[in-house]
Amino acid sequence: MSVITVIPGDGIGPEVIEQAMLTLDRLQLGLEFDVLDHVNADTFLRTGVALCDEDFERVRSSRSVLLGAIGDPRVGSPAYGRGVLLRLRFELDLYVNHRPAKLLHDRLSPLRADSARAVDCIVIRENTEGLYTGAGGSVHPGSEHEIALDVDLSTYHGTARIVEYAFSIARREVCMVDKANAVEFGGGLWQRCWRAAAARHPDKASRHLYVDAAAMQMVTDPTGFDVIVTNNSYGDILSDIASAVAGGIGTAASANLNPERGFGLYEPVHGSAPDIAGKDIANPVGAILSAGLLIGDLGHHEAAAALRAAISQAVAAGETTPDLGGSLDTRGAGEAIRARL
Ligand code: NAD
Ligand code: IPM
Ligand code: MN
Repeated sequence: MSVITVIPGDGIGPEVIEQAMLTLDRLQLGLEFDVLDHVNADTFLRTGVALCDEDFERVRSSRSVLLGAIGDPRVGSPAYGRGVLLRLRFELDLYVNHRPAKLLHDRLSPLRADSARAVDCIVIRENTEGLYTGAGGSVHPGSEHEIALDVDLSTYHGTARIVEYAFSIARREVCMVDKANAVEFGGGLWQRCWRAAAARHPDKASRHLYVDAAAMQMVTDPTGFDVIVTNNSYGDILSDIASAVAGGIGTAASANLNPERGFGLYEPVHGSAPDIAGKDIANPVGAILSAGLLIGDLGHHEAAAALRAAISQAVAAGETTPDLGGSLDTRGAGEAIRARL
């Protein structure tokens, strides 16, 4: 029996995770869930603790993690998000953030030209370095002389392994995205690691874009991308753009992985969406597709393919939530998918 830790989290997190769990139950794969529903903003606001060590150990000793969303407008500082999500990513060394964006139905594309619509790309976001390490500080905080420093950190170890992962999963091409025309040292390191990986994978095409041009192409010619590999913050931003051109943030899934250890944390790309929380209109597709990535990585390939097909069919039939033009509530959209399994 595989134990999956579940962290529903905040806002629409619990709403969409409920649908993902019901859908996994329907597939009868013998998964057992360990639900940590006390890991949320209420607990953080009451106790000041984001994720206690005991819960961290429960996560670490499980097979994989399914997470809804972490974030609440009542929490002013980044300490809470850092304490849960970034702690799990960093301390479990989940260095790959694998974010596929595939158009589910032509109707969902915001792009005018038919030829630009069939998006099917994967953003590989470096997940344990960059601007997210917490390295930095403030000099003269609170004064008019304050100097705030957040270090954009890249190591050879971290850069080489993420670029190598991108080539290892690319179907036809890797596009490496950086800002080496302005960011000297990290840019140089990414360029070196990318060229070396490209040389090791002569069967895969390879190209490079600066991040500003990549953002532009993501909305003018997104079908041109297969795999994009980039640093933590550019990957955060480009994966939201990719989700938008692939049908909407509510449909986007992600896997935070350590491929060598075979461990993953699976979560929709979206956040806790405080503007729609409690209204029962959150789209569960991103969470259900994330559960699909999880079972695929556990080796249940047929079930994962059946799940993707059921989602495509429900979306094609218009049996969706309002963000995709449908009129179903969150549970109804989940049921429409389960009815096709
Ligand atoms: P968000 O993704 O929560 O919402 C952005 C917009 O997309 C909102 O208008 C929202 O209503 C809409 N949206 C998002 N998910 C949707 C869904 N499933 N169905 C329909 N519409 C959906 O981003 P935000 O507003 O910038 O962030 C809100 C909070 O979530 C913040 O605290 C942020 O830090 C946090 N956050 C957490 C994660 C995570 O846990 N992985 C990711 C992103 C943001
Ligand atoms: C995401 C989120 C997080 C990130 C936030 C909540 C820290 O936006 O998972 O994309 O920036 O990684
Ligand atoms: Mn993000």
